Amino acid sequence: MAFPINRPRRLRRTDALRRMIRETRLAPEDFIQPYFVCPGRDVKKPIGAMPGVAQMSVDNVVRAARETYAAGVPAVILFGIPARKDALGSEAWNDRGEVQRAVGEIKEQVPGLAVITDVCMCEYTDHGHCGAVSGGDVDNDATLDLLVREALSHARAGADIVAPSDMMDGRVGAIRAALDEAGFSATAIMAYSAKFASAFYGPFREAAESAPQFGDRRSYQMDPPNGDEAMREVALDLDEGADIVMVKPALPYLDLIYRVKHEFNVPVAAYNVSGEYAMIRAAGINGWIDEDRATLEVLTSIKRAGADMILTYFATDVARRLK
Ligand code: PBG
Repeated sequence: MAFPINRPRRLRRTDALRRMIRETRLAPEDFIQPYFVCPGRDVKKPIGAMPGVAQMSVDNVVRAARETYAAGVPAVILFGIPARKDALGSEAWNDRGEVQRAVGEIKEQVPGLAVITDVCMCEYTDHGHCGAVSGGDVDNDATLDLLVREALSHARAGADIVAPSDMMDGRVGAIRAALDEAGFSATAIMAYSAKFASAFYGPFREAAESAPQFGDRRSYQMDPPNGDEAMREVALDLDEGADIVMVKPALPYLDLIYRVKHEFNVPVAAYNVSGEYAMIRAAGINGWIDEDRATLEVLTSIKRAGADMILTYFATDVARRLK
């Protein structure tokens, strides 16, 4: 029925009416809070391109994780910055490494919080690539063994979920098999399935000190124009045993969040990445946008597109505001 019988503005007239017909509601449990764990004690090292985010030593990460949990956020994801890097990234599977100790401490002191660990080599290799390099490129199959070692070490530390972000072919299957064989059949896998070679990871590479020292990641991360290929990547990861699949970044790929949710009907995560965070913060700090409103609008768009969970540097702050 058309105007003047139908007047959509009738239900926009007051806040109460708008709340009654609201279709998408953000809640603290939608979010996953990322933390960067660095060596040392009582360290809090701000990241220039991510105002409000810092590298923190284990003690400070545990403190922050307690606040995240108190704000109602159910999970954190941890990234490690090791004391030393080498060609194979061997600190990644050091059972006494930063991430491993942080997992243990958080599980002990904040037992209700789910702990996810990012599984990738780029933070641990001296060349900054996501695996073992040979002949100027990352060797896929040689890297699988390194990722398996890292995932097993995280599982031994007590991680609830391991999250491979490297984009090697076959890594979900390799990690699933190794976890099961080692008695970790209950450790879940959140796969960075449709992860694109994006310009929006710039600030993260400062945060994780993981910028590639030569070349770029385009031989392993996806080419931004490809949506059908993203569906194939998701299908492969689900076949290999992924429990949760991820689209990353979130905003330039909202169409793919929607497609993945509707085609596969599985738990879908979306990563509101460092560059997306930095843009909002920068404009907010300059007084160019209303930062609080812009943040809620962006996170709502990711949920409305179909994401069941959103990894975001805003997680704890927004959860507090929603409470
Ligand atoms: C590791 C990894 C990256 C991010 C998450 N895991 C960086 C990259 O692939 O270069 C990016 C997260 C962000 O930008 O917030 N491979």
